[in-house]
Amino acid sequence: MKTAACFVYFLFVTAMSYTQSEPNYDESKVPKFRVPDPLTTFAGEGIGSSAEWEEKRRPELYAFFEGQVYGKVPGTLEEFSFKLLEEDDNAFGGKAKRKQVAISLKKNNRSLSFNILLYLPKGSTDAPIFLGYNFHGNHTVTTDPKVFITQAWNRNSDDLGIRDNTATEASRGARKNRWAIEKMLDAGYGLATIYYGEVDPDKNDFSDGLHSLFYREGQQRPKPNEWGSIAAWAFGLSRAMDYLENDVNISKVIVFGHSRLGKAALWAGATDKRFSGVISNDSGCGGAALSKRKFGETVGQINRSFPHWFCDSFQQYNENEKTLPVDQHQLLALMAPRPLYVASALKDEWADPRGEFLSAHYASPVYALYGKEGIVAPQMPRIDQAIHKTLAYHIRTGEHDVTDYDWENYIAWAKAFVE
Ligand code: GCU
Repeated sequence: MKTAACFVYFLFVTAMSYTQSEPNYDESKVPKFRVPDPLTTFAGEGIGSSAEWEEKRRPELYAFFEGQVYGKVPGTLEEFSFKLLEEDDNAFGGKAKRKQVAISLKKNNRSLSFNILLYLPKGSTDAPIFLGYNFHGNHTVTTDPKVFITQAWNRNSDDLGIRDNTATEASRGARKNRWAIEKMLDAGYGLATIYYGEVDPDKNDFSDGLHSLFYREGQQRPKPNEWGSIAAWAFGLSRAMDYLENDVNISKVIVFGHSRLGKAALWAGATDKRFSGVISNDSGCGGAALSKRKFGETVGQINRSFPHWFCDSFQQYNENEKTLPVDQHQLLALMAPRPLYVASALKDEWADPRGEFLSAHYASPVYALYGKEGIVAPQMPRIDQAIHKTLAYHIRTGEHDVTDYDWENYIAWAKAFVE
């Protein structure tokens, strides 16, 4: 018995050291793999037109990502309402109108409310808007003293002075470097932002947040093919879109997200065609990067570190990417023909910049069906040499972050491509 126990332990340790091995950052160790063709159906049929794509291929890819990766939303809301909390016509030194609005969602006698902070260029009646989640609260994106401090659960951060999972005045403006609000306003764009933790707290606990509104009697967590947190965040972005359509006269909304919130922005763009454009900033594994390259973060690693992000069914691909019938370029292709910008950072190897680039490249044939240009050449562009097409890409100097360089490019590209 003892020997058998030892043997089982040995197997366990060996399996663990295999599954939790160091991430690969060596291009020569990227496995050989077949890139699933966006233009051949699962049954092997070729797709030759945008009509065939929309009728046959897009729906089956969408169904796969919905049921096996991000998870299905189990039902619809019973009530949606919004309430103006505060507004000011002279925000940002007179450049903007500011609004803070509470959006309330109700189902099964449970409710959830989150705040949206809006800056609209002053005097403009139908400005295009960038919509994106922030990581620590609306008050962190600007030093504007009127922005409410979130009351919701917040990840502790020494840098931002967030302790006891509660934000305070100490973090006001602490992330303003990631939000070039003045540049947006000067270019005639508005910003709408939401603290993602108000929609679903980013922890492996399904008792709170949006999921809990949808539970049936006795249910405590989503079923294996039901939504994880990324899908819940994407759902929240669509509810923000409902609000924007109802309350402000907008011409277009471009959904944006960085990192895990870039994954959410991509899924929101795929699930909701009302978004006129989509921006993925350093979204990496489970976002823009190809999974089958297994470079930097892998499916197994992301599912172990963040078991609540994807649906449980996605775990069958841990250390098993080769059996995935799709890859993330096909998620990107779900945005077509709408403008999509994929951006990477040179030092962000964990997110696999080359995998993000190739994903944009392999999604481009779908854009071509609509006569739209994407990333045609298979070689990565030089650092800081952005390619602006309907499907755009850049890799910039620096770290995993959102910088002025990123925003300058997003704004210039949006002006040229987001109709
Ligand atoms: C972790 C995670 C990434 C994610 C990132 C972020 O690094 O592994 O997948 O994109 O956090 O959201 O900052």
